[in-house]
Amino acid sequence: MKFSVPRGTSDILPDAVPHWEELESKARKICKSYGYREIRTPVYEETGLFQRSLGQTSDVVNKQLLQVFSSPAKDLSQVSANSENTVVGYSLRPEGTAAVVRSYLENSFDKNEPLSKLFYIGPMFRGERPQKGRLRQFHQIGVEAIGPNSISAFLDAEIIALAMHLLKNFGIKNPKLKINSLGSKEDKANISEWLRKEFAKHKKDLCEECQNRFERNVFRVLDCKSESCRRLVNKIVKELPISGESRSYFDAVQHCLKAIGIDFEVSPHLVRGLDYYTYTVFEITAEGLGSQDAVGAGGRYDRLLDDLGGDEKANFGAIGFALGIERILLATSLTQETSTVLDACMVVLNSGYEFQKEAFKIVDRLRKVGISVDMSYTDRPVKSQFSRANKLNARFALILGEDEFDKGKISIKNMKTSHQELVDRETVLDYLRKVL
Ligand code: HAM
Repeated sequence: MKFSVPRGTSDILPDAVPHWEELESKARKICKSYGYREIRTPVYEETGLFQRSLGQTSDVVNKQLLQVFSSPAKDLSQVSANSENTVVGYSLRPEGTAAVVRSYLENSFDKNEPLSKLFYIGPMFRGERPQKGRLRQFHQIGVEAIGPNSISAFLDAEIIALAMHLLKNFGIKNPKLKINSLGSKEDKANISEWLRKEFAKHKKDLCEECQNRFERNVFRVLDCKSESCRRLVNKIVKELPISGESRSYFDAVQHCLKAIGIDFEVSPHLVRGLDYYTYTVFEITAEGLGSQDAVGAGGRYDRLLDDLGGDEKANFGAIGFALGIERILLATSLTQETSTVLDACMVVLNSGYEFQKEAFKIVDRLRKVGISVDMSYTDRPVKSQFSRANKLNARFALILGEDEFDKGKISIKNMKTSHQELVDRETVLDYLRKVL
């Protein structure tokens, strides 16, 4: 019986891992330099948390939540979606914001600091139809800034600046930033009513999907990619009708962005698939990704804190974004093979247990002091041991033959220059320390 990796997921093979490590370590360094600290939350949460925060009508909740069982079934053969002895109360996280807000409130962060600046790196899960750049398990670098009375246009600009800084540092050429304002929660309700009224006049021109969305979540019609919807949206929506106060806030955000030299385009049709956003929303796209070209997105979600049980009097402000690691790697073509470099590789010239044991002891001693060494544990022809040393990019070969074995020595060969020296086995560590 053969198994394959589940559809919409992928193995990150050893050759690709160095790219991930590099990206993650750059992300940690840059986020910390803006004053953000890492937080790690579970990969699953109560389903209700996602329903409440992302919205019952969002595609992510409606169609894409991957549910997990609350307790492992005693007998795996009994597990099925409808099995009575399993409780379907948890879902794999489709994104990170809801969990960070849950943790923020649960751990009373607001009692300890005026503004909590947090970031996370990890896998997210959505039951999407897989295609290039759209996976069921993907990884995000997410950033959230949350605090009482923390509604400042400078913070919006800081968050956007950090997202752009990260992407440029990862090697994304020409990231395009689009911003918009959805206004306050009250503005959103008014806009929704206005859009429904306007689109009702042309309902037959909307694509099938949007005819459904029209009732559930009319905002999503604005970012529909179908030709007929685009034409209609371009004709009807020149600007979202937000209040004067919301407009001034959006103007202030734009001024702050200009002050630090960040280029952007105001896009009145930019809306987000998650319900929690109010005021500023943004999306960053990269070239060469086809239809799934958003490498990152985010926005303000001040009211989510109240919705998840925060004290309304605290006047919470919150803004954040998430970047998709797989899409960044695709856009920067950092998916090709990388090679490992090993300090040394053991080559045993004679077969037999005693030779292997002696070589193994040397390898073990070197590994314990941090020198990377490998050896093969089966008797292999010398030629194949050397070619393995080459493949592993070993800088030195440690050669143990009969002569060396008898005299308590070892030969050390520089794999690049072929220069070889015979040294006492006791001094091999000193020798390597000098040359590495
Ligand atoms: P999002 O727009 O759903 O926002 O996702 C952010 C980024 O994650 C996308 O721009 C994309 O790069 C990546 N992404 C999303 N879905 C997939 C997928 N199926 N396959 C591959 N990559 C994907 C959020 O998740 C919000 N939590 C962002 C946020 C944080 N807003 C405020 N704080």
